[in-house]
Amino acid sequence: MHREYTYQAVLAASERIRWRVEDLIGGDKELDFSRSFMPESLARVEDLAFLSPAERRVLNQIRGHGYLYVFGLVEEFILPFVLDHARPQLHADDYRVRALLRFAAEEAKHIHLFKRFREEFTRAFGTRCEVIGPPQEIARAVLAHHPLGVALAILQIEWMTQQHYVASIRDDAALDPQFASLLRHHWMEEAQHAKLDTLMVEALAGACGSDEVDRGIADYGRIGELLDGGLARQVELDLDAFQRATRRSLSADERDAFLAVQRAATRWTFLGSGMSHPSFLATVGELRPAARLQIEQMTPAFC
Ligand SMILES: [Fe+2]
Ligand SMILES: [Fe+2]
Repeated sequence: MHREYTYQAVLAASERIRWRVEDLIGGDKELDFSRSFMPESLARVEDLAFLSPAERRVLNQIRGHGYLYVFGLVEEFILPFVLDHARPQLHADDYRVRALLRFAAEEAKHIHLFKRFREEFTRAFGTRCEVIGPPQEIARAVLAHHPLGVALAILQIEWMTQQHYVASIRDDAALDPQFASLLRHHWMEEAQHAKLDTLMVEALAGACGSDEVDRGIADYGRIGELLDGGLARQVELDLDAFQRATRRSLSADERDAFLAVQRAATRWTFLGSGMSHPSFLATVGELRPAARLQIEQMTPAFC
């Protein structure tokens, strides 16, 4: 049990953080297209040696656009899930209610943040970047799974953002300041979410019989497959956007290399970096040691 995580402490930490969407983007806070947007460990554009440095930067920026979109998309199912989790106990522990409602409000702010960044991107980039979706449909498909499965998927996503921030510090000097700031400010609030998710998983699992825990874990796997399928499609859309933006038509071999490298990079960004997070694995291990082992064995395919 994570006895060190309490609603009161998480609420207090959350209340110490204050930033607005307008502090991060808009006005004189413009995206700098002469720079990379994503940390290289997430974008992996340098592995594509047949692209020129300028083309690699364009691809990095397209991956940045995909990051904004996919994060906005996953937060579309996190927000209603957290509200549904809070609602049945609105008259119970006051700290719990306030911490969960604050969590939901922060997630609504993040959805807005990612949208505002995308608007700025779309206005300045000049080339259309297609995306998977619509987000509401993907959210519906995810939320149709067992609540414990959804909570585990959310837990993985929240820990994943911690890894993304660490990756961004490594490349900080080279990154667009606005994108680096987005990763940092998101990380600040997601650190609290990951703790609340841990408490959510424990509460849901505590109310489940043994069979239901198994079902929840199986559904966590199914949600992963669903997201993985969407990400594979997004990589194809990114390839199209890249060819349009650079007016370059890749050969069949180059396309294959592009898709293989970017598929692995996208999997690591949105799945592997969360699956391998020690805190995520610790929670799964407490539920089912065998499930933890299975995830650890699967992780190399997502690295
Ligand atoms: Fe968020
Ligand atoms: Fe979050």
